[in-house]
Amino acid sequence: MPMLKLGQINALFEMHNYSNLFLIANTDCHRTAYLDKAVSAIISKICHHYQNSASTSSIQRYKPVNIMIIIMGGGYDTRSFKMIEHNLVNSVNPPPLLQRRRKWRWVKLFKRRRQQQPNPLDNLPPSKQYNLQCYELDLPQVVQTKRRLIQSRLSRRRPWFSTVNESVNTPSFFEVDFNNLNQTKKVLKNIVSSNETHPTANIILFEGVMIYLDKGVPHALLEVCSEVLQTSGSDNNYLCFADRLDNIPGGDEELARVEMNNTGWELVDWLSKPGLARHMGVASLK
Ligand SMILES: C[S@@+](CC[C@H](N)C(=O)[O-])C[C@H]1O[C@@H](n2cnc3c(N)ncnc32)[C@H](O)[C@@H]1O
Repeated sequence: MPMLKLGQINALFEMHNYSNLFLIANTDCHRTAYLDKAVSAIISKICHHYQNSASTSSIQRYKPVNIMIIIMGGGYDTRSFKMIEHNLVNSVNPPPLLQRRRKWRWVKLFKRRRQQQPNPLDNLPPSKQYNLQCYELDLPQVVQTKRRLIQSRLSRRRPWFSTVNESVNTPSFFEVDFNNLNQTKKVLKNIVSSNETHPTANIILFEGVMIYLDKGVPHALLEVCSEVLQTSGSDNNYLCFADRLDNIPGGDEELARVEMNNTGWELVDWLSKPGLARHMGVASLK
């Protein structure tokens, strides 16, 4: 099947069901690209439904959808910053530094990037359609180092981040050891219940972290995630992963379906690849 560009994929939202779309999109084996595409497609789908649903009042239609992304084992990855950045660059009122001083540098950078390799995040809907709140969880020492790096490096590389006003949600960081399931559940519950914006959609993301966890923990962690999201009050709860799930020795989709089913999820898309974090997929809460 020929690989579709994300623009084409989004245009097809109306014509195909969700699962088919992901199957078309998933010819790319790179885990970061896969997850960027998956998250972009989920956000696009939610915004599209919200804008076009008969149950959305005309007043609500002008309000952005609140989307919460919880990144498990975010490490030194910058996905949450990249997503917020995309949201801001596309906004009507970008931060002044981004708007004036860095304008041409940014335009050039984005053009170059687009020509060389289309960025899946370019396909995110216009920023006025959604608010993003990102949470990252990792081991205490990693979170502490990341906080320090953000202070020292982020302000140099992305100076406009320090000028954004309070309406822009910068990522929040939480220290947790996933091998301690009670502690993880508590932290996740706090995040879900403390979010005053009542997200329309919640997305939990795992990328290359389950491979480091104790035996049986990846399975239990999926259960913890589904249990916590059951209490979120939202109808749109998703799991995106590029990791090594329990109980799937190879890349068998049927076993993946069973593993998801046993942990409170329904598999929406599946793609296996070589390597340690060999299981890539998307699931929705049952
Ligand atoms: C290979 S890195 C992946 C980082 C990021 N997701 C990415 O793809 O760039 C694995 C991450 O999992 C985190 N991790 C490993 N064991 C953990 C545990 N028991 N609890 C929480 N995080 C853990 C590590 O600190 C590290 O940041």
